[in-house]
Order: sequence, then structure tokens, then C-alpha cells
Amino acid sequence: MADTIQVIPVGTVPPYQVTIGPGLLAQCGGRLRDVLPPCRAVVVADTTVAPLYLRTVTESLRQAEFAVSTFTFPAGEARKNLSTLSDILEFLAREHLTRTDCVVALGGGVAGDMAGFAAAVYLRGIRYVQIPTTLLAAVDSSVGGKTAIDLAAGKNLAGAFLQPAAVLCDTDCLCTLPADIFADGAAEAIKTGVLCDESLFALFEDGTLTADPAAVIARCVTYKAGVVERDEKEQGERKLLNLGHTVGHAIEKCSQYAIPHGHAVAAGLAVIARSAERLGWTDGPIAGRIAACLTKNGLPTGTAYPPQALAEAALADKKRAGGEITLVIPRRIGNCGLRKMPVEDLLPVIQAGWEA
Ligand code: NAD
Ligand code: GLY
Repeated sequence: MADTIQVIPVGTVPPYQVTIGPGLLAQCGGRLRDVLPPCRAVVVADTTVAPLYLRTVTESLRQAEFAVSTFTFPAGEARKNLSTLSDILEFLAREHLTRTDCVVALGGGVAGDMAGFAAAVYLRGIRYVQIPTTLLAAVDSSVGGKTAIDLAAGKNLAGAFLQPAAVLCDTDCLCTLPADIFADGAAEAIKTGVLCDESLFALFEDGTLTADPAAVIARCVTYKAGVVERDEKEQGERKLLNLGHTVGHAIEKCSQYAIPHGHAVAAGLAVIARSAERLGWTDGPIAGRIAACLTKNGLPTGTAYPPQALAEAALADKKRAGGEITLVIPRRIGNCGLRKMPVEDLLPVIQAGWEA
């Protein structure tokens, strides 16, 4: 099972495929030629990923008749900003990319979000491809077409929806991930389990994830593909994917992005689960089970930032609509709902779940 290639279709307009399995980096040129004609390709990677994987990717692309150039930026969420975006756009222009050319995002969610946004705005939109190298990018950010950068006011405040032409997820890349970065991806996959799949959640409870990460990636991608097909632009159901993110984004912002996304989402998930349980919005006790699962996977279950600071940071976030905010509330493991409330109610909700 671990050596097989899985292909998951995403039925957006236009549709694309997510291919998951080992050895895909070395095959990326040929595989991309199935969806793209020979063209110019700019590969965007950060300074950690580039020495590990850039050469394999560029060689494969060149063998498949792509004219390749590369753009490298310093690793880290703090660089997912206007300045790096501007540098990428200027590079695409200097390389004379045209509307028939493409951007290849090689790396984690930061490279994917930012290279995708550059592709979305360069010449009013050119094609791009996602080659995720973190577990987080594999299970979540490479699929669904959300692209973005952070602004001083908060996470992902400038962005666009643009679906990739293809996603190639080489599971061999997971072997070089440090444990804490692997854990970031586990946080988004545990989130998926809480949203829709108790048996997926249970894999993380008993620590069997590492036995077959490809299967976990495929389950997460299959679920996300379905949500994105039904609600590409986040008018309704897709909001569920933000479980744990209101507090999570606030934690990231309060830490000036020193706390990584997955760790922040884990803490946000633990807080909202406790709030929901204590406010009587769950079908029964769930918060203890969620916290234990997060701990088992090396993730935090709380934050030192006080509720007031978190609420203020969250209310600058884009998920606020006028005087209201929509929170994702876990009802039981595998089932969540949306709850719209006046922005004034956010602070008491966070206060209810802040303490362990
Ligand atoms: P990241 O891209 O910063 O990667 C984390 C670290 O791992 C970086 O230092 C990177 O250089 C390193 N790295 C990447 N691949 C590696 C590998 N194979 N081996 C060793 N090191 C490797 O962060 P991330 O956790 O992948 O993604 C977080 C970002 O994703 C956040 O900006 C978040 O907002 C975004 N996100 C977007 C979506 C979406 O739908 N677009 C969904 C979830 C998260
Ligand atoms: N990660 C949230 C989304 O893709 O909608």
C-alpha cells in the first residue's frame, strides 16, 4: 500500500488531480507534461527545501522540455509577506513568463500559499502546480486553491482563490521533516478527523500515523476535495475547515509568527473544544479526548496569550463579517457545525475554554 501511487480527482472548474506516493519528485517533469505543454516554469522554494529537493525537480522538469528557472526565499512564515511576493512577481517578469507559462510551488504551505498567490496575480493569473513537501501541505494547503500572504494586521489577509493545475505529493519528502514540523501536519489531519472521520482521529490517538502516512494524506485530501467541490469560495461548508483557526491565527499573530501554524491550530482546537463542552454545545465530553490526542502527537493544548489579546487579534482576522463572527464548533469527534455570533461574544467564548 505504502509504495502505490494514489490519484484523487478534485472536481473544480477546471478539475485537477492530486497524485500521492513515493518517488514523484524525480518523475515530476513527465507527470506535469500530462497536464501542461512544454513551457517556462519558475520553481519557488525556500532556503531549507531548495538544497534538499530543488535539483531533483529542476532536472526532471528539464528532461521533460520545460525551460526552468528557480526563485529561493528565506524559510519561515515571517517571509510570507508583501515584500517576498513582490520579489517573486518581479522575478517572473524578469524571466519573461507569459500567460502560457507556469509557477511550481515546491515546499510547505508557505511556499505554496505565496507562489500560488504570485501565480494568481501575475498577468491576472497564470497556471501553477503544487509539490508539497511538508505533511501540512500534503494533507491541507496544497489542495483547494486558497493562496495568500500575511499582512501586519493578520494572517492571510491578502489572497486569491486559484486552483492548481496539479498537485504532486511525494511521500518520500516526509522522511526529512523534523518531528515538530511533522507534528504541524498532524494538527491539520487531527482537525480533519474531528470534522468528519472518527476512525482517522483514532489513528492519531494510538500513534499509528507513521505506519502509512500516504493513507492519511489520501483520506484528508479526499475529504477536502469534496468540500472544495461543493463550496470552492467558502460561502458555507468550507468554513468548517477553519476549525481551531480563529484562536490559532490569533496565537500566530500574537507570537509574531514564531509559533508555527500547525502548533497554533492545535492549541486553537483544544481551546474551542473546551469552550464548546463547557458552554453545553457538544453532545457530551470531547475536550479531554482531543487534548490527549494532541499531546500524544507532540502538540500544545493551550496558550499563554490571555483571552483578551487573542480576541483582539482574532477580530482583525478576515473571518469577521461586519459585526458577526462564525466559529466552528465541535459537537462530537467526527461532527462539527458553524455558529454565528456577535463579535462581542468571542471573548467570553475564548475565556470559557482558555484554562485547561
Ligand atoms: P512551511 O512552509 O514554513 O514549512 C515548515 C518548515 O519546514 C519550513 O522551514 C520549511 O523550509 C521546512 N520544510 C519543508 N519541507 C521540508 C522537508 N521535506 N524536509 C525538511 N524541512 C522541510 O510551513 P507549513 O507548516 O508547511 O505550512 C504552514 C502554512 O500553510 C501557513 O502559512 C498556513 O497559513 C498555510 N496554510 C494554508 C492552507 C491553504 O488552504 N492554503 C491550509 C493550511 C495552512
Ligand atoms: N485550510 C482551509 C481551507 O482550505 O479552506
